[in-house]
Amino acid sequence: MYVSDCVSINERGHLTIGNYDTVELVKKFGSPLYAFDENEIRKNIREFKKSIDDEYDGNGLVIYASKAFCCKEMIRLCDSEGAGVDVVSGGELYTALSVNFPAEKIVFHGNNKTYDELVMAVDNNVGRVIVDNITELNTLNSIAAEKGKTIGIMLRIKPGIDAHTHSFVKTGQIDSKFGFALETGEAMEAIKLALGMSNVKLRGLHCHIGSQIFDLDPFELAATVMLDLFKQVKDETGTELEELNLGGGFGIKYLKSDRPRPYSDYMRKVSAAVNSYSAELDLKTPFILIEPGRSIVGAAGLTLYTVGAVKDIPDVRTYVSVDGGMGDNPRYALYQSTYEVICANKASEKRDWTVTVAGKCCESGDLIQEWTRVQPLEPGDILAVLSTGAYNYSMASNYNRIPRLPVIFVKNGQAREVVKRETYEQLCECDI
Ligand code: LLP
Repeated sequence: MYVSDCVSINERGHLTIGNYDTVELVKKFGSPLYAFDENEIRKNIREFKKSIDDEYDGNGLVIYASKAFCCKEMIRLCDSEGAGVDVVSGGELYTALSVNFPAEKIVFHGNNKTYDELVMAVDNNVGRVIVDNITELNTLNSIAAEKGKTIGIMLRIKPGIDAHTHSFVKTGQIDSKFGFALETGEAMEAIKLALGMSNVKLRGLHCHIGSQIFDLDPFELAATVMLDLFKQVKDETGTELEELNLGGGFGIKYLKSDRPRPYSDYMRKVSAAVNSYSAELDLKTPFILIEPGRSIVGAAGLTLYTVGAVKDIPDVRTYVSVDGGMGDNPRYALYQSTYEVICANKASEKRDWTVTVAGKCCESGDLIQEWTRVQPLEPGDILAVLSTGAYNYSMASNYNRIPRLPVIFVKNGQAREVVKRETYEQLCECDI
């Protein structure tokens, strides 16, 4: 009935997640908070894994893009499901290593990794560093040489594809800070350079064409563009690259009107292209990596707030203010992202009120959603914003020195805190 599969309504008319009453969640853990349905996250990872098994005979790996939501328990969950993780900073890498995540299954991204981050990658034997530029390639090779090691790398290629998404999250075109351009010959040059280096092992190539993409065609096109490059590399150097990383970007449903295709459809279409085009080009089908982030955690999470002031401005609009805001969810302010909003303690009532949900930050743009339909609200009501599992906690800030929210995992009616609420003392911890 609501947009997310992991919510439902119980006999008290309250919204539930993972069969746990959300109103009770707030009573137990305080407000506001993020809650995730653990089974839903696991189900999503398994679906991707099954597609790799079905379409590529298991010759591939699901890499969770931890930028979508990263904490120790999420990394442990990935490990227990046999997935890899993608990290983009020393902090994400540290989080993964701190729970003994297998380094071989870590993919390290970033367009400007620092020297120290590269040392950290080499010291810890990260399986694949996704090299973004020539400076990084040279630095990494010399760090590995100094330490007498060989480090696995992939090169990030811009396949030059417009994936018709919000321009802030389009990363595949030539005008992008990420990766090596194909058209200019830069990519081929970098590949040849890498193949001639003794302390990096070029495992293959990577591309990522954007985020929240519904259309299947750009993924298929990207795969064929990349295979053309594999072929060119084979012809010009005699080396057949082994791995193709197709990135993430699979869209999810934020509103009922969104129509993402099932992941198995993506896989079927892209794998058919990969398998047949490889054969046509006389290449063996490469080992496939995919890097879903949003599609694993997005719809599995929600945010719960408590309603405070309700301000009706006649003939203008009604502002409903909550005890969180752009600090815990900057996505509306940044991208005008859409969300479904529900009164958790009146979940079975009709949503016939149109309101603007505002946060508590000292900024007019601190809005969670404008002109959204919700049940009539009053102070003290619990408001649920659905599908906030991706890029909310991970993009949270302490603007106005508001502590970051706790994260609760719910599974089969049991709830546990996996990230604690930040305290005022912690907010001042680095202050001198
Ligand atoms: N791989 C690479 C190299 C990426 O850059 C990204 C996302 C992913 C995988 C995961 O993409 P996903 O499956 O989550 O779409 N902050 C924005 C999203 C930025 C995505 C950046 N890269 C948002 O809140 O919508």
